[in-house]
Amino acid sequence: MVNLVLVGAPGAGKGTQAMKISQKYAIPHISTGDILRDNLERGTQLGLQAKEFMDRGELVPDIVLIGIIKDRLSEPDTATGFLLDGYPRTFPQAEALDDILGQITKELDVVIDIEVPDEVLVKRLAGRRMCRCGASYHVLFNPPEVDGKCDHCDGELYQRDDDTEEAVKTRLVAYYAQTHPLIDYYSTKGLLRTVNGTGSIDDIFREICAAIDRIL
Ligand code: AP5
Ligand code: MG
Ligand code: ZN
Repeated sequence: MVNLVLVGAPGAGKGTQAMKISQKYAIPHISTGDILRDNLERGTQLGLQAKEFMDRGELVPDIVLIGIIKDRLSEPDTATGFLLDGYPRTFPQAEALDDILGQITKELDVVIDIEVPDEVLVKRLAGRRMCRCGASYHVLFNPPEVDGKCDHCDGELYQRDDDTEEAVKTRLVAYYAQTHPLIDYYSTKGLLRTVNGTGSIDDIFREICAAIDRIL
């Protein structure tokens, strides 16, 4: 049982690693980006609210995200642990998470920061292909077995609307201004483990597992 948070810039490999961690440790993968995209696709009120922010590469307002995470963490599958991918991204979100966990008598065990230089992030996002099941591919670095199809669910792969050059620039700015400061916040709490995110997907996964296994 482990309650963990993955942090890292856009394209750092959070989603890629999260799928593997979630399988190995049998904990739900909670990606706020995936939740928002699912709402967008279903045309819900929440999706409509989020769309303009997401397309520009800006953060969706805290109040919306805090509501999403509060609801999601109250679901029974989080009883034996959870993995947050893409939340928290601001101080108010981190503080709200502490409050929510306090109310349900849980706490975070570890925060893993995947570090990747900007020039690598930009290349990763430019060639990314996504599946609606949450799987992430890359035309060069991590191609699917069959062109355009997901290895896990056979779904059609697509390019994200916010993987344009313009939106990627905005996402990186938002990351350094609003999310990166959380690294100090979690380091002060003694929860932070930093992993070099430039190696192979499997090497990074091994490093993350070693960090998790040390606290289990
Ligand atoms: P979100 O969906 O969370 O996007 P993000 O943070 O920008 O991160 P990405 O999903 O782009 O990157 P990733 O780290 O998951 O990388 P991946 O594994 O895919 O958020 C999207 C938007 O939603 C936000 O901009 C915001 O508007 C909104 N939002 C979401 N949460 C929010 C919150 N809490 N508050 C406010 N707004 C919120 O990998 C990237 C690519 O690299 C892939 O092609 C992959 O195949 C490849 N790759 C991965 N690992 C490697 C490797 N080791 N070597 C080579 N290639 C690799
Ligand atoms: Mg992701
Ligand atoms: Zn899929």
